[in-house]
Amino acid sequence: MLKKKVEDICNRQIEREGYSSNLYLAMASWAETKGFSGTAGWLYAQADEERGHMLKFIRFVNDRGGKAVVPEFKKPPVEFESIQSLFEEVLKHEEFITASINEMVDLTLSEKDYTTNNFLQWYVAEQIEEESNAKAILDKITLVGKHNLYPFDRDLLRSREEK
Ligand code: FEO
Repeated sequence: MLKKKVEDICNRQIEREGYSSNLYLAMASWAETKGFSGTAGWLYAQADEERGHMLKFIRFVNDRGGKAVVPEFKKPPVEFESIQSLFEEVLKHEEFITASINEMVDLTLSEKDYTTNNFLQWYVAEQIEEESNAKAILDKITLVGKHNLYPFDRDLLRSREEK
């Protein structure tokens, strides 16, 4: 049975993962309207992954005798300055999510909830990958130069097709 404090922080994370999904969906939609189809595809897939992260938390909370709450979500931004600043925002957001997961890990240790701690390890590993992906994309943008993003966008398109 989940302790109330742990249940609450899991519900907070359900909101954060769901917001991440909507944020990437908003970014994908913006990129698509600007003609960056590779970037849009990458972000649409990312939005699906984040929805999966939210669902995983919902199922876990309910399985452990808690009550998962589907929250209201803040409206994500509609406009983005550039592809580069968009991915800077992705990285910043993922760093925020990592800090949030780490805070949860801390709580499970102080509450001696080793089951939830074990469940969270999947997210700890996932965050390493998510931050590293965002950093790699920003490096690519620097490499191709922010004024000729066509090869970068094609590259992202291919990276999704290969999966
Ligand atoms: Fe589910 Fe990208 O954090």
